[in-house]
Amino acid sequence: MWDKELEAARQASQEAGKILISRLGRVNHITKKGVIDLVTEADIEAEGAIVRIIRSRFPGDSILAEEGGEVERDRSRVWLIDPLDGTTNFAHGFPFFAISISLQVDGDGVLGIVSSPPMGEHFEAFKGGGAFLNQRPIRVSRTLDLQESLLAVGFPYTIRQNSLRVMDHFGKMVTRAQGIRRLGSAAIDLAYVAAGRLDGFWEEGLKPWDTAAGVVIVREAGGVVSDYGGNPYHPFMNTIVASNPHIHQAMLSALNS
Ligand code: IPD
Ligand code: CA
Ligand code: CA
Repeated sequence: MWDKELEAARQASQEAGKILISRLGRVNHITKKGVIDLVTEADIEAEGAIVRIIRSRFPGDSILAEEGGEVERDRSRVWLIDPLDGTTNFAHGFPFFAISISLQVDGDGVLGIVSSPPMGEHFEAFKGGGAFLNQRPIRVSRTLDLQESLLAVGFPYTIRQNSLRVMDHFGKMVTRAQGIRRLGSAAIDLAYVAAGRLDGFWEEGLKPWDTAAGVVIVREAGGVVSDYGGNPYHPFMNTIVASNPHIHQAMLSALNS
């Protein structure tokens, strides 16, 4: 049903991936959007390539991309794009990052791609079509208990202003889960929940382009996504919890304890 859109998003992620791989370990120019919030020339170049491809195929669609590649057209069809999710990793030559591309139609995520070029892993899903890793179907884990769960978390760039709250949540989870990872790419955290490698993920302060694609993939893999209060996901919400269906309530209870 979303064949043309998926094809364009695949091509865009491949082009961006080539740019990112060619720049990995060779970053010349880093600017700062905040004290610890970085932008490299690779973010900008990769975003340019993605936006060019999407615009040429779907000139009537709107685009919201992290590094400023906004195009406002038909508001019922909006592409949410993070050309490089995991910029801090990338800037250090730490090969763990992704390209995240999603299409929202009438406010609903219909397609999501999370592509991790260094790993050679391409996650994708469209609404009602299941979730795939390198074309093989994926499902969330079957872990039943939080204490048996491997979770991931991310820290917002505003951590210096709200460290007490973020660390309070961290403390509540780390004492209840089997293990916690901080990988540095929210898009991959979500894709790994979808693939059952992680049982759950939580973070506050993420932006629509960080989460939109991964959420389509998690849902299509049988997972559940809400905010910390249990309200259903929408791309502009400030907190996110994504997990298999069995541990979702336990994660919410722990965060709100
Ligand atoms: C960041 C990553 C990171 C998360 C941050 C995000 P960026 O995105 O997803 O894992 O903890 O909150 O902003 O800046 O690398 O695109
Ligand atoms: Ca991001
Ligand atoms: Ca980014």
